[in-house]
Amino acid sequence: MTVERIGIAGDGIAHWHDQTLYLPFTAPGDRVLAVPTAPRAKGCEGRVVGLIAAGTGRVAPCCHHFGVCGGCALQHLSPALYRETKLDGLRRALRRVGIDPQIVAPLRQVAVARRRVSLGLVHPRNRRQTGVIGFRERFRHNLVDIAECPVMEPALLALAMALRPLVPMLLPPGGRAEATLTRTDSGLDLLLTMPEEPPLPALEALVDFAHRHDLARIVWRSAAGDRPVIQRRPVRIVRAGIAIGFPPGAFIQPSETAEALLVDEVSAAVGGARPVLDLFAGLGTFGFALAASGPVHMVEGDPMAAAALAAAARGCAAATVERRDLARDPLPPEALAAYRAAVFDPPRAGAARQAEALARSTVATVVAVSCNPATFARDAATLIAGGFRIERLVAVDQFVWSPHLELIGVFRR
Ligand SMILES: C[S@@+](CC[C@H](N)C(=O)[O-])C[C@H]1O[C@@H](n2cnc3c(N)ncnc32)[C@H](O)[C@@H]1O
Repeated sequence: MTVERIGIAGDGIAHWHDQTLYLPFTAPGDRVLAVPTAPRAKGCEGRVVGLIAAGTGRVAPCCHHFGVCGGCALQHLSPALYRETKLDGLRRALRRVGIDPQIVAPLRQVAVARRRVSLGLVHPRNRRQTGVIGFRERFRHNLVDIAECPVMEPALLALAMALRPLVPMLLPPGGRAEATLTRTDSGLDLLLTMPEEPPLPALEALVDFAHRHDLARIVWRSAAGDRPVIQRRPVRIVRAGIAIGFPPGAFIQPSETAEALLVDEVSAAVGGARPVLDLFAGLGTFGFALAASGPVHMVEGDPMAAAALAAAARGCAAATVERRDLARDPLPPEALAAYRAAVFDPPRAGAARQAEALARSTVATVVAVSCNPATFARDAATLIAGGFRIERLVAVDQFVWSPHLELIGVFRR
């Protein structure tokens, strides 16, 4: 069959009689021999067993794990096809809700360097000495034992490689865990999410590991809560000159350069409108930047992030903080009336109910930041139905080689 296009999840889409097949790591125009594997909601996952002829937009991928590792989906596309593919899913999502895709600005690209990454750990039953650390294979639970990764900042990759020999000590044979590695402004932070407490020799080895690799902190997370293994210094990030305590595994924008770009776009769109709301504020990426020129109210649902924000806001007279679940209990139009602008940056599920309340409010400027074109389009349509027009839409390629995209939409009445 012939691959027609790349779908929103990064897989090539082909048709075999009436069936839609999703074929990872293929390119438009590829002529392939493939077998269906598992059914999916709207078709079937497939595996390519032979490439008969390559499509014209193919290039050699830069990582030797490409084609197995599920971390990257689009490394094999030429620069022009890559840019086109990244924006294609967004344009389709916009068209579905009646927004003219011509509003989309050219893709903003940033250097590939992730400062936050989550990796799987496995102690295979059949390999007593060596653990496995890496990303999952596409459509499978198997981990790819990575030896290289062009996506991560080199310090994160070096840390992952150094962690591998400890895995058999941390986990029983057959055991699995997750490691979240983040480069904060205090250095590297490691969160290990695993059901059982590591045995004493493993805890001692982790302490030694933290000293040898100059880690800021190691935390073990289980269903019972977080337990510090070692903290060598306070763990913080600094935003607009304000130091914010970094809760284990907390969200930060994965690329430092992309974050700077997002902050510039948001600040330019909000301009001098104050007071302004920062909804789904996280650790105040946008809020503290905006607070440099007037009052900002930051709202965040996660208890640990909200507490860290509140503590940091004591050092910033223009910032106030509220902990609130904006999915269940969005700020209503009466409360929104006090603000001239609002920024929202929700998780992938979007901000459906908060967008509805903003649509019914008197707020004049809304800046929507999103990592999911589908929910962005839905929330944008809600704002437009409430009387906003979309003035600008910028896509930032912060998740390089993945199908994901970061968006900033500017809406005004
Ligand atoms: C994509 S992050 C954005 C964080 C921040 N704006 C930034 O740029 O770093 C989404 C944030 O929304 C928060 N969040 C998720 N669900 C929420 C909810 N129902 N109510 C309020 N905040 C929520 C998360 O804890 C997270 O901090």
